[in-house]
Amino acid sequence: MKIDAEKFNYIARTVFAPVYPVLAHQIFERTGLTEGVCLDMGSGGGCLGLAIARNSGFKVYLLDESADMCEIATGNIEHLLMKGRVVALCGPMHAIPLENSSIDLVVSRGSIYYWENMAQVLREIWRVLAPGGHVCIGGGFGSEEIMNEIILKMKVIDPDWQPMYHGFDDALFLDAIAAAKISGAEIIKDESGTWVTFQKPLQQLSEG
Ligand SMILES: C[S@@+](CC[C@H](N)C(=O)[O-])C[C@H]1O[C@@H](n2cnc3c(N)ncnc32)[C@H](O)[C@@H]1O
Repeated sequence: MKIDAEKFNYIARTVFAPVYPVLAHQIFERTGLTEGVCLDMGSGGGCLGLAIARNSGFKVYLLDESADMCEIATGNIEHLLMKGRVVALCGPMHAIPLENSSIDLVVSRGSIYYWENMAQVLREIWRVLAPGGHVCIGGGFGSEEIMNEIILKMKVIDPDWQPMYHGFDDALFLDAIAAAKISGAEIIKDESGTWVTFQKPLQQLSEG
């Protein structure tokens, strides 16, 4: 995918700014986690990961395949004085540059629509997830009120703009979940958006 990284970052840090702290708190509530190691996949300029780090005890890795986005994320980390607590990694999600079982919380917002080879990405998430770790991936604005404000503002910038999460394909996602042999996934559709959550069991049942 090709995104104008500067323009995207400007819009994320202005028009979309109210979304990220609200989503961060919803994720803490859903998972019951407020510390550990978090990975924000397809992080763009890192607004969600940064909101998570600023409102919790998490150390956060931001992962994006776009070198331009990684540079912008590094700038945002420095601007918010979060160097050390938040680390930008440049790379594709189908080969996450992190150790097995090293991540307590995987989040991803607004990126799932672009995932090619979704089953492989999900296998990678499972690989890096620690036992008991949680995953919250999907898209949305946190609340209907925030979404409606954003639509009004975005229509001024681009009259054809539409919120994208309405395009989430449940069947495609559930097929990929099954192919990756992940159980217990739940698709949540509420005013926060469309989110898929699952948790790695504390103990894996041995096969056979
Ligand atoms: C629409 S942006 C969302 C950015 C951010 N999560 C947010 O909500 O502000 C999607 C991002 O996903 C990244 N992305 C898409 N596919 C990817 C992949 N396979 N591996 C790594 N990053 C990917 C893109 O480079 C882009 O920065």
